[in-house]
Amino acid sequence: MKILDNKVALVTGAGSGIGLAIAKLYAKEGAKVVVSDINEEHGKSAVAEIKSAGGEATFVKADTSNPEQVEALIKATVEAYGRLDIACNNAGIGGEQATTGDYSIDSWKKVLNVNLDGVFYGCKYELNQMEKNGGGVIVNIASIHGTVAAPLSSAYTTSKHAVVGLTKNIGVEYGQKNIRCNAVGPAYIETPLLESASGDMKEALTAKHPMGRLGKSEEVAELVLFLSSEKSSFMTGGYYLVDGGYTAI
Ligand SMILES: NC(=O)c1ccc[n+]([C@@H]2O[C@H](COP(=O)([O-])OP(=O)(O)OC[C@H]3O[C@@H](n4cnc5c(N)ncnc54)[C@H](O)[C@@H]3O)[C@@H](O)[C@H]2O)c1
Repeated sequence: MKILDNKVALVTGAGSGIGLAIAKLYAKEGAKVVVSDINEEHGKSAVAEIKSAGGEATFVKADTSNPEQVEALIKATVEAYGRLDIACNNAGIGGEQATTGDYSIDSWKKVLNVNLDGVFYGCKYELNQMEKNGGGVIVNIASIHGTVAAPLSSAYTTSKHAVVGLTKNIGVEYGQKNIRCNAVGPAYIETPLLESASGDMKEALTAKHPMGRLGKSEEVAELVLFLSSEKSSFMTGGYYLVDGGYTAI
């Protein structure tokens, strides 16, 4: 018996990095997985990878910053697999690097639109479906920057703090409805999101982690799996770090 047997799970931004690792682990643990991404090629290749490893998955394209597309995504999930038990709202972007006074309004709006509005749209439609199911679990991917600053990325810091707040509200509102909601705060993880960083910048980032290295997507996925499973049955409204000690100093 695997820990997600008979569960239907949805992961946004599952074509790459952390979301891909989560989708693969969910499938390995027995869930039927809806892989969603704005990038069709990456999403389809994630499904192929899951299937070739013996798992069950299907791709649904959606831009999480578009509420109609998110509503359609939840509908497509139920059409494909009959219900929705687990949702991981993972899709997110970094945005431009500038001090707050110079931060462009366009980038501010874009980052908040994907990282915050997109998570709200996901939660809204997932919660409605989970209430129909009689329960469910949501995991929102925040960041260490849900609790500490990311200098030169005020939109990112703001969006991730807000995701932690949204998660708390949902935990409280749905505590007696058999729906749990938690947020995860990874430190810097080796993913394509970090690819644009220069060697010097990566070295400086690495030095901020007491463990002396960046994290791996699979290490984040293990925490997400725990929070998505019955093993965390008394946990809701929480924010859990997977940060190599980053926020301990
Ligand atoms: N990499 C890190 O160091 C790190 C640290 C903490 C938190 N996070 C968070 O983890 C999440 C995943 O990051 P990652 O590093 O795996 O990034 P990534 O760039 O490797 O993957 C993000 C995926 O999301 C998709 N995506 C982007 N915008 C989308 C949209 N509007 N709708 C649907 N899909 C969209 C992309 O196509 C991509 O496949 C993000 O929320 C990010 O903020 C990342």
